[in-house]
Amino acid sequence: MDINEAPLVKTLVEYTNEGILRFHMPGHKGGKAFPEAFLYNPAALDVTEIPGMDNLYCPTGVIAQAQMLAAKAFGARHTFFMVNGSTVGIQAMIMAACRPGDKLIIPRNSHRSVWSAMVLADVKPVYVQPRYDRVNSMATQVSVQDIQRALDDNPDVVGVLVVHPNYYGMCSHLKQIERVVHDRGKLLLVDEAHGAHFVFHPDLPPSAGELGADIWVQSAHKTLPALTQGAYLHVKGPRIDERRVAQIIAMLQTSSPSYLIMASLDWARALMEAEGRKLIDNLIEAVHHAKEQLRSHLGLLTLDDYDRSEEVEALDPTRLVLDVRPLGITGYQAEKLLRRVGVQVEMSDIHRLVLICSVADDRAVFDALVERLAKMADELPEHRLGPCVEYNEMSISQEIPQQMMSPREAFYSIIENIPLRESVGRICAGVIGAYPPGVPRFCPGELIDKEGIDELLYIQRQGGSLFGLVEGHLVPVVSE
Ligand SMILES: Cc1ncc(COP(=O)(O)O)c(C=O)c1O
Repeated sequence: MDINEAPLVKTLVEYTNEGILRFHMPGHKGGKAFPEAFLYNPAALDVTEIPGMDNLYCPTGVIAQAQMLAAKAFGARHTFFMVNGSTVGIQAMIMAACRPGDKLIIPRNSHRSVWSAMVLADVKPVYVQPRYDRVNSMATQVSVQDIQRALDDNPDVVGVLVVHPNYYGMCSHLKQIERVVHDRGKLLLVDEAHGAHFVFHPDLPPSAGELGADIWVQSAHKTLPALTQGAYLHVKGPRIDERRVAQIIAMLQTSSPSYLIMASLDWARALMEAEGRKLIDNLIEAVHHAKEQLRSHLGLLTLDDYDRSEEVEALDPTRLVLDVRPLGITGYQAEKLLRRVGVQVEMSDIHRLVLICSVADDRAVFDALVERLAKMADELPEHRLGPCVEYNEMSISQEIPQQMMSPREAFYSIIENIPLRESVGRICAGVIGAYPPGVPRFCPGELIDKEGIDELLYIQRQGGSLFGLVEGHLVPVVSE
């Protein structure tokens, strides 16, 4: 049969054949760091719970062994293999830590799985705003002081969730946060989706497990050689009952977990334990070299060139974030132009490109990246539009609107979609915001006010983009 009859297969095959440099997840980068058996005929390894293969939801054999080895490597008391990404890991983590009606401190720019978890578990959010770097138009990290204040103002919370690191590889002062959280007898939950590699090298920021998290989640597929959806959920603290976690995971995940994904989780751990130190040494060196070249040849900036905000303790040296303002284009434009010269990045924002690098990327890949970026820069027209400088001046409110009902109540209300301008005075039923700053302005259950709408429209007029709107212009609100 002709693959043209299967559009998705056709497009994937074409992408593979194009030889695009993959600076996006998954971290195995087209299988480069996989064993032969995976590459030769992966479908042959795709089995189910037949004798000898154990069972993810009551493991006593090979899966139990693989999870135990992972727990040892990541410094956990118990590790669960997740086959639906950190998304389900985060849902399970929150459901395990909280009972219906409990309050949890969360950064306002959390991943959307945090909102779905709040709906599923009926958890009440206490938001902490991440700090905002006005010069570079980006949300950075939550500060220790803000977490401490939130804890003092809400002594009835169950715990605190921290994102460590964020998409840009910025880490918070997690050790200090751990102290203020545990001093008050609360739980520390960490979304370490972007930091699964941290534990394998002393020059990387310390991982959440090393810093005392009670429960933490890592997307192995983002930064390790693991298949998409492969993630780890680790438990350490005495106040998390892993039998309860196991029960919740079995509720949320498929009853037919992929052996390929689970095997890749086992493989990623084994490879990194055996060779991670050397592989990460090489990666850090290659990323550093690429940054130097891009700085000197093209004038591109990286996060190392920014004034470090005080709430950011460390940067992940393997995350390549390129500020393209010196080229006079936006990050969004750069992403499109780069694809034309054969590079696909993970993400772009107004000023930057975010490239996910992993141990599957060798020096030659970085040399090719530098070459292709130079080609892209060469082909730029002489007089191009500069990015919207007004962003730097823009006042981005730290206001948190009034919470009128819980995210779960908002979700289960009758919802209507109305134009943004007409939504003042209504209760938001979605997560609405703008890039920049990429932090929601209105969250589910919150009262929509005029200042917030004006702010969103202003950012949009400056060329920013809004997120969370239905059909691009309607706000989901609770029906009156
Ligand atoms: C900070 C953060 N947390 C969680 C997730 C969800 O991870 P996954 O794709 O493994 O479900 C993401 C995904 O991009 C993320 O960026």
